[in-house]
Amino acid sequence: MLLSAKLSVLLQLVGALAVPALQPYDSLAGLTRDEVDAFARSVKVVGGQPIPPPIKDTSLKLVVDKDHQWKPLRAGDQRGPCPGLNALASHGWLPRTGIVTPGEIVTAVQNGYNMEWKRAVLVTYAAFLVNGNHLTNLLSLGGMSWLTGHAPPPPALASGLNTHGTFEGDASLTRSDAFLGDNHSFNETLFQQLVDISNKVGGGKYNASAAAEVRFQRVQDSIARNPTFNFANPRFNTAFVEAVFPIVFFIDGRLRAAGETGLDLKVMRGFFEDHRMPKDFHRRGTVSSASDSELDFVQAAHDYIPGFNNGSARVVNNFVADPNFMGTQTELVCALYEKFVNSTVALYPNPHGELRKALNQNLDNFYVAAEAHCDQIKPYN
Ligand code: HEM
Ligand SMILES: *[C@@H]1O[C@H](CO)[C@@H](O)[C@H](O)[C@H]1NC(C)=O
Ligand SMILES: *[C@@H]1O[C@H](CO)[C@@H](O)[C@H](O)[C@H]1NC(C)=O
Ligand SMILES: *[C@@H]1O[C@H](CO)[C@@H](O)[C@H](O)[C@H]1NC(C)=O
Ligand SMILES: *[C@@H]1O[C@H](CO)[C@@H](O)[C@H](O)[C@H]1NC(C)=O
Ligand SMILES: *[C@@H]1O[C@H](CO)[C@@H](O)[C@H](O)[C@H]1NC(C)=O
Repeated sequence: MLLSAKLSVLLQLVGALAVPALQPYDSLAGLTRDEVDAFARSVKVVGGQPIPPPIKDTSLKLVVDKDHQWKPLRAGDQRGPCPGLNALASHGWLPRTGIVTPGEIVTAVQNGYNMEWKRAVLVTYAAFLVNGNHLTNLLSLGGMSWLTGHAPPPPALASGLNTHGTFEGDASLTRSDAFLGDNHSFNETLFQQLVDISNKVGGGKYNASAAAEVRFQRVQDSIARNPTFNFANPRFNTAFVEAVFPIVFFIDGRLRAAGETGLDLKVMRGFFEDHRMPKDFHRRGTVSSASDSELDFVQAAHDYIPGFNNGSARVVNNFVADPNFMGTQTELVCALYEKFVNSTVALYPNPHGELRKALNQNLDNFYVAAEAHCDQIKPYN
């Protein structure tokens, strides 16, 4: 009895040494096959899951009901660069820990904002493929805090949405470029720039004119100050979409129904800084993919090309076009699809067993959002 108790303690110690100090939501990218297998034995393997179906009731409705009040963060809760998901977690539409499954995201963004199911699938699985843990089916909305333990050994990425250069990118509205500072926390200086522009061209609100000028200024700023500035696919796509998300999803559904086209700046700060919805926030009464008129307006307001400051020269104001650019909107979706598949393969060059199975399921899930336009890529078949 005593002996076996000792033996079990010993085995646990050996296990602790052999298994990398991973949390269940850490990324497995960059681990060796043995390390992945050891980790798989140390946690409950859930693997890839089918996508939850579209929600049925897409009417205008109260989101901040009595079960979804805002609560402050507790130690260890994860929040990151996405104000939309942060607020869903702080209101309990996603687990308040900020450790979530892709299925929970797909359902929560529909319930909370009436985001179109297919758009939700596209964004969620793109992010999950590169930042999530395919064995446990968990993703951190932020990163690894001091509470999350050691990072996986190099060349693994730190996990979660904070991970720069996978989904998180440059020229964000209210977050610094990774090169210039904190790449995922709310930045007051940047928010003030947005307020100034909104006062100047939006009549004190963040409307499509304000979004267009903020988007442009953030790109100009990155060209001028960030020698590693990357504004190529997929960032070239997500940066515009994210600039209009606040207008499309954060304006109260009742105001929108009455014709409101600009977002109140106090409400905007609530979402962006405090992960907080207004106290009786109602979602919009129609589904949206955010590929609507606001997006066209913002893209057309200035000349843009996908590209980057040519990093090999390490200088600013050295913006060059991405030689791999594909031109049309449809091609842009396929380029985005292909890019995330490629990034996944770069992170998991030779997956086996449960990991391979889970990756295939999540790649299939991702393709659902692109299948109308693009050929499927099956890297692991
Ligand atoms: C569907 C799953 C979603 C995922 C996985 C996701 C993930 C992300 C990530 C990784 C970023 C950081 C990109 C960057 O600026 O570097 C981001 C930014 C952003 N997201 Fe989300 N997001 C999702 C849905 C939403 C929704 C539904 C909304 C609005 C209701 C939203 C609003 C925003 C906004 C406004 C930004 C830009 C923040 C800024 O530039 O300061 N997102 N999102
Ligand atoms: C916030 O943004 C400003 C302007 O880009 C920058 O100078 C500052 O370093 C940023 N702060 C942090 C903490 O990243
Ligand atoms: C992103 O910002 C965090 C916080 O400042 C920093 O620790 C991390 O190194 C940054 N990531 C990159 C890739 O620069
Ligand atoms: C934004 O608001 C300003 C001030 O009310 C208005 O002049 C401008 O036309 C609006 N922009 C759009 C695209 O509606
Ligand atoms: C980037 O700079 C290097 C060195 O100056 C040059 O050889 C290369 O052609 C440039 N790349 C592009 C895409 O302009
Ligand atoms: C993806 O990888 C393939 C094969 O290496 C390459 O031909 C293609 O250009 C890549 N696509 C993107 C968008 O990076």
